[in-house]
Amino acid sequence: MPALTNRKRVLVTGGAGFLGSHLCERLLAAGNDVLCVDNFFTGSRDNVLHLLDNPHFELMRHDVTFPLYVEVDEIYNLACPASPIHYQHDPVQTTKTSVHGAINMLGLAKRVGARIMQASTSEVYGDPAVHPQPEEYWGNVNTTGPRACYDEGKRCAETLFFDYHRQHKLDIKVIRIFNTYGPRMHPNDGRVVSNFIIQALKGEPITIYGDGQQTRSFCYVDDLIEGFLRFMDTPAGVTGPINLGNPGEFTMLELAEKVIRLTRSASTIAHKPLPQDDPKQRRPDIAKARALMEWEPAVPLDEGLERTIAYFRGRFFS
Ligand SMILES: NC(=O)c1ccc[n+]([C@@H]2O[C@H](COP(=O)([O-])OP(=O)(O)OC[C@H]3O[C@@H](n4cnc5c(N)ncnc54)[C@H](O)[C@@H]3O)[C@@H](O)[C@H]2O)c1
Repeated sequence: MPALTNRKRVLVTGGAGFLGSHLCERLLAAGNDVLCVDNFFTGSRDNVLHLLDNPHFELMRHDVTFPLYVEVDEIYNLACPASPIHYQHDPVQTTKTSVHGAINMLGLAKRVGARIMQASTSEVYGDPAVHPQPEEYWGNVNTTGPRACYDEGKRCAETLFFDYHRQHKLDIKVIRIFNTYGPRMHPNDGRVVSNFIIQALKGEPITIYGDGQQTRSFCYVDDLIEGFLRFMDTPAGVTGPINLGNPGEFTMLELAEKVIRLTRSASTIAHKPLPQDDPKQRRPDIAKARALMEWEPAVPLDEGLERTIAYFRGRFFS
């Protein structure tokens, strides 16, 4: 049923997580009604506590592996644990969340005629043989390894999105997110930025896996969310997949040194063996996002790290 006002009714699954909570904030600020759905596996009420008094915000505990019947105009499908520690905790549930979650949300979009965006991931490229990765690269994923529940779940979700688009003419948008960091990252999820910051703030040795020469790119959360909103507003038929991330490339050693400097920590660096299937290098090719919606990251790594450090200091160390 159409909305009675001009406000769009927007569903954000995984809305109480790191990225979801920032997205809910931005959608509310833009004058939308926001329905945040989350099972609180890795997200928490704390992440959206400041939104609960807003009459245009609604928080619902729900697991996306079960069908959902709500009336909405747009759906952002973010529900899925994103860090190896969490997605490997119950790998079968991770695949279900990606695959059954996608089927349920696509079914909902089909029923109510909503536009739907999938939060896919650079992990669909696996351990890439091509650098940087353009959207046309099909990836190099180990189907039986410990990361496969996430990588293959996300790949299958993309397939479902494109099949619903071809078969049912659904208005889909697929974004492939590269490493993003910022306030409200989960403190114990083993992701490199939060790990390094917490270890530095505690004055503990900073753990680097392998020799620290493997590189990653880091996108500040505000830049990423700007990309979400711009891509959601592109014309119907612009489906993606589209890479969103920061092409600046840093070695793990460089990142550790920056964090030590910005936190003024006395931490040293400790090396541990590389985990299985850890990609050596990952960097987005964002030419499409630049051309299509004039999007590119604006927040330099030092500035983003400072904001993130301030959040962790205030929340866990004050
Ligand atoms: N942060 C990144 O760097 C990054 C990179 C690539 C892709 N992504 C994708 O973006 C999305 C959000 O990631 P994030 O970093 O905010 O992670 P997050 O873990 O903070 O957020 C995921 C949210 O989904 C919820 N959730 C998990 N399973 C669910 C289920 N079955 N039903 C309902 N809710 C469920 C969690 O409780 C959490 O709130 C994920 O889909 C992730 O794969 C993130």
